[in-house]
Formats: sequence, structure tokens, C-alpha cells
Amino acid sequence: MEPHSCVNMLAFALVLLCPLASALANPISLYSSSTLTSCLCDNGLNFEVSHNSTWQTDTTPFNLRFHYTPTAIVYPTLTSDVVAAVKCANEFGVHVSALSGGHSYSASGYGSRNGALVIMFRDMAQIKYNSSDATATIQPGARLGDVALELNDNYDRAMAHGLCPYVGVGGHAGFGGWGLASRNWGLLIDQVVAADLVLANGTAIHVSNSQHPDLFWAIRGASSSFGIVTQYIFQTHQAPATVIRYAYGYENPNLSADAFAKLLTSYQTWGLTAPKEIGIVANVLQGGKVVELGGYYMGNLSDFNRISDSLLHATGSASTVYVEERTWVAALIEVGGGTPLSTIGKPDVHDTFFAKSLVTPTPSPLTYTSLATFASYFAHAQIPNTASWFVQFELWGGGNSVVSSIPANATAYPHRNHLWTIQFYARSTTTWSTQGTEFVNGMVSAITDNMNGTPLGAYANYIDPELAGWQSKYYAGNYARLAAIQKEVDPRGVFMKAQNIGAPDL
Ligand SMILES: Cc1cc2nc3c(=O)[nH]c(=O)nc-3n(C[C@H](O)[C@H](O)[C@H](O)COP(=O)(O)OP(=O)(O)OC[C@H]3O[C@@H](n4cnc5c(N)ncnc54)[C@H](O)[C@@H]3O)c2cc1C
Ligand SMILES: *[C@@H]1O[C@H](CO)[C@@H](O)[C@H](O)[C@H]1NC(C)=O
Ligand SMILES: *[C@@H]1O[C@H](CO)[C@@H](O)[C@H](O)[C@H]1NC(C)=O
Ligand SMILES: *[C@@H]1O[C@H](CO)[C@@H](O)[C@H](O)[C@H]1NC(C)=O
Ligand SMILES: *[C@@H]1O[C@H](CO)[C@@H](O)[C@H](O)[C@H]1NC(C)=O
Ligand SMILES: *[C@@H]1O[C@H](CO)[C@@H](O)[C@H](O)[C@H]1NC(C)=O
Ligand SMILES: *[C@@H]1O[C@H](CO)[C@@H](O)[C@H](O)[C@H]1NC(C)=O
Repeated sequence: MEPHSCVNMLAFALVLLCPLASALANPISLYSSSTLTSCLCDNGLNFEVSHNSTWQTDTTPFNLRFHYTPTAIVYPTLTSDVVAAVKCANEFGVHVSALSGGHSYSASGYGSRNGALVIMFRDMAQIKYNSSDATATIQPGARLGDVALELNDNYDRAMAHGLCPYVGVGGHAGFGGWGLASRNWGLLIDQVVAADLVLANGTAIHVSNSQHPDLFWAIRGASSSFGIVTQYIFQTHQAPATVIRYAYGYENPNLSADAFAKLLTSYQTWGLTAPKEIGIVANVLQGGKVVELGGYYMGNLSDFNRISDSLLHATGSASTVYVEERTWVAALIEVGGGTPLSTIGKPDVHDTFFAKSLVTPTPSPLTYTSLATFASYFAHAQIPNTASWFVQFELWGGGNSVVSSIPANATAYPHRNHLWTIQFYARSTTTWSTQGTEFVNGMVSAITDNMNGTPLGAYANYIDPELAGWQSKYYAGNYARLAAIQKEVDPRGVFMKAQNIGAPDL
């Protein structure tokens, strides 16, 4: 498409097809905005600019600590719409960012800056199942809860993915995608068999192990740097009829650092040999006064009892015990916090928060000292009285975990021989205070300062825009190869934003 055709048509097109664009108030933005919007308009794209009634809602991110104002938001229904939008953005020198479920911790779907052209996948959320090869073709705007429900209820199929029903497939499958079934079935990226991708120059391609294998490799861990995925094809699994839901609560009312460190080190040692069918996290709750070991077991009760005996033998008896056989969907609802899995027509909530992550190498488990220092830190640190926090020690590896069975260089996601991903999350009921940030940083340092120099990684789906050295922490040994591919496919930086491959450090 020629730039002039958009410009020449402007006078009529704006009035006849796109009355919204002519009403832009700010004369400084009028020229660039109206040329881009007229290009979008000429291509028949459905889009919004700043005065549309849903603009406020559509530009309010999940994490209210952030706010970016896009130039326009496009709502594609077809891959060809994404192609046209990317070409328009190229012509007018505007950055492009995909937004699927909008659940980024840093509102990165808005492009991490003002003025991006945001491609919002609200209207591309189809889920289709192919019974001849048991794959599901899923558009990026689909939410995890709807995916789980659709696959289970209509086809008796399932996948491993995250716990929160509202998280979008687009971002989740772009950077990892962990859930309680991941030790058994892998991360969501490990279940991707192919994808359709729109590159920075507007070319649409199909990627798989046999087609564009470099890009197929790169999008399984760092997708937003390489293209806009318009659909994923996933391998599915037989949905379990039932699983064993369980939770063991350990109380530590006096915040004893020794009791905490002993509990966590014994959970860690047990985790090194845990069978892959058990999904488990340790949640540190109520200011550290309660640690809950819980998740679900993908097998029957007699097998679970054997495994839980070995866990409790290591960690000691719990003060609260919950063990129930549940249907697959009932278990997903419980671990997702009790809300229904279907998100259709039900808007999500928001949060105001700061989170960080650490990924721990299996050969260098967390030391007793790091865990005890962490516990004495949270026992004494000051946090604002409007803030609360939790920390989650997620067991990704250990035993015969599928996550760890995949080589570190097989996908862009590098942390394979790793035991835990630890998530540190503090939220506020009011405007964020830097005291909350300092508190979270202090928790992380208490651990990293006591690991005898072992470098710990971080998980890009728990994106932390303040992370120094994010290149190696997110991507470890895969960064150099990612950077070389990125330079080749997006030399002008159409998709460039904070913490994309090739972006500068802080
Ligand atoms: C409440 C909550 C619970 C969570 N639980 C889990 C969990 O259990 N396990 C876990 O692993 N993670 C979890 N996460 C993190 C989650 O995986 C990430 O935030 C994920 O990136 C969100 O995807 P999204 O599509 O909703 O986000 P978006 O904000 O839409 O996108 C996130 C990033 O992906 C890019 N992106 C989005 N769509 C595309 C596309 N089509 N093509 C290319 N790039 C794209 C965006 O540009 C952005 O950089 C959780 C997050 C929240 C807020
Ligand atoms: C934006 O507002 C204009 C004018 O009210 C309307 O015609 C257009 O359909 C709206 N666009 C969207 C995507 O809602
Ligand atoms: C379903 O899968 C089979 C086997 O891979 C393939 O030949 C067929 O084209 C697929 N059907 C659709 C609709 O994609
Ligand atoms: C907590 O401390 C109180 C007062 O020192 C003591 O009486 C109580 O036994 C302690 N509880 C535990 C579980 O250690
Ligand atoms: C539980 O599952 C195992 C297979 O893991 C099987 O051998 C055993 O018979 C089952 N037990 C019951 C009570 O169903
Ligand atoms: C991946 O790692 C293996 C073993 O470490 C090595 O043999 C192989 O060449 C690597 N592959 C690539 C593409 O770097
Ligand atoms: C678009 O970029 C891809 C990847 O770099 C390249 O292979 C292709 O030739 C480019 N297409 C055009 C039309 O420039």
C-alpha cells in the first residue's frame, strides 16, 4: 500500500468512513494521527482513538501502577487486519504492540510507551479443536479459563497453563506459561506445535519445527520481539476425569526464621525427586504466619497418599489439612481462586502491585541461610499499612518434571534444569508507594545475597520493568541467538519496547 493513497483520501475518508478521526482535538497530533488513522481506515480496520467511549476501559491496564496512551487501538478479526495495521504503522513510523489478555505485570501490551499502535485481540479469541491430530488452534485473545472449559466440556481435552482464568493466551504462550499441570505436561510454550506470525515488515508466515524454525524457536519464550502471533496450534492431552486437590497449612505465628527455613528446605529436598504428576506450590501468606503447601495431583487417591506421606515425612505434620478428589474443572476453579472459568461478558478486576521473580538452578538449591534471612527480613521490614504481600515457591522442576526434561536451548525459554520459580508480589489498596517496591526488593536481596554467588534467573512472564541485567536473567545462554535473529527480522525496531530482545538495559 502506498502512503499517498491514504493521505489523498484523507479529506473524504475521514468524513465518510471515519468521522471519529476528524474530531481529534489536539492540532499537534492531528497530522500524524490522522494520517495513521486514515491508513487504518482505508484498510477497513476496526479501531479506536482517544474519544471513543470504551477508550478509557481499553487503555486501563491490569496493573494500575502503569498507564500508557496509545495512538490508536486496532481490533483485528483476521490475520490480514494485523498485516494491514503493521504496514500502516511502518509507513508512519509508529511502534506496534500486541495486547491479548492485557495481564502483563507492566502493561507491556501497550508497548511500554505512549504513542504505540496497539493491536488488541479482543475479537480474535476462537478456540478450535482438531480431533484427527488432537491439536487446538487458538487465537491470542482467548482467556485461559475459557480455553480450559471449551477443551474439557466439548472434547475431554486439556493443556497445562496458568491458574488465573483471565490471563490471555497471547502473552502467556509467548514467554512460558506455567501451571500446576506443567511438571506433567510442560509449559504452555512446550505444547505449541506451530503458530501464525506477522513480522515487522507486515509479512504473515507460518512457523513450526520445519517452517522458519529459528522464529519458531524464538517465539517460544520471547514472542513480542519477533512478531505478532495471530494463532497458536497446541498439542492437547486427555483431560483427567478427576485429580486430587490438596492443601497443607503450616502456622508460624511467631515468625520463627528457623521454622520457616526448615520447612522450606525440607520441601525443597522432597521436590528434587517429586514425581511429575504432582503440581505444588508453597504459598507464604498472612505476613509469613502461614505457609500453605498445595496444588493438585494428577492421579488417584491411593497414589496421592503415598506421595503425600513422603512430603509430610519431610515437612512435618500440618496444622490444617485439605484433601479432596475433584473433577478437572472443579480443581481448576479452586486453584484459580474460586471464580468461574468462563470470562465471557464478565470484566476482570484490576490490581496495584509490584512483583519480582527468582528462578533457582536445581544443582544449587536455596541455602538454609538464604531462607532464614528472607524470613527474618519479612518479620521485621516495614511495609505501608495499605499494602499486603504473598510469596509463591512454585515447583517447576525436580524428579521427572517435563519442564526440566527439555534442553535449555530447545526453546527461547532457558531455565530448564531449575527447581523453583519464586514469585514475590506486593499489592496496595491505594496509590503505590516506593516503600512497597523497597520491601519487595529487600525480600529478593535477602535470598540472592546468601546464595554464595550462585546467579539466579527471572521469569519474563512475571515481567519486572526495574530488573537490572534482565537479558541474562530472563534468557541466560539464549540471549545472543535471540539478539541475532531480532536484528535480522526487525531491523527498524517496529516492535521495540522495554525488555524486548535488543532493548537497552535500564
Ligand atoms: C492475575 C494473574 C495471574 C497470573 N498467573 C500466572 C500463572 O499461573 N502462570 C504463569 O506462567 N503466568 C501467570 N501470570 C503471568 C502471565 O502469564 C503474563 O502476564 C502473560 O504475559 C499475560 O498474557 P496476556 O495475553 O494476558 O497479557 P498482555 O498484557 O496482553 O501481553 C503480555 C505481553 O505479551 C505480548 N503479546 C500479547 N499478545 C501477543 C501476540 N499475539 N503476539 C506477540 N506478543 C504478544 C504483549 O505485547 C506483552 O509484551 C499471571 C498474571 C496475572 C496478572
Ligand atoms: C469510535 O467512535 C466513533 C464515533 O462515535 C464510532 O463511529 C466508532 O464505531 C467507534 N469505534 C469503536 C471501535 O467503537
Ligand atoms: C486436522 O489435522 C489433520 C492431521 O494433522 C490435518 O490433515 C487437517 O488439515 C487438520 N484439519 C484442520 C481443519 O486444520
Ligand atoms: C510463640 O511465642 C510465645 C511467647 O514467647 C510462646 O508462648 C509460644 O509458645 C510461641 N509459639 C510457637 C508456636 O512457637
Ligand atoms: C491408582 O493408579 C495406579 C496407576 O498409577 C493403579 O496401578 C492403581 O490400581 C490405581 N488405584 C486405584 C485404587 O484405583
Ligand atoms: C543445544 O545444546 C546442545 C547440548 O548442550 C548442543 O549439542 C547443541 O548444538 C545446541 N543447539 C544449538 C542450536 O545451539
Ligand atoms: C519481511 O521480513 C522477512 C524476515 O526478515 C523476510 O524474509 C521477507 O523477505 C521480508 N518481506 C518483504 C516483503 O520485505
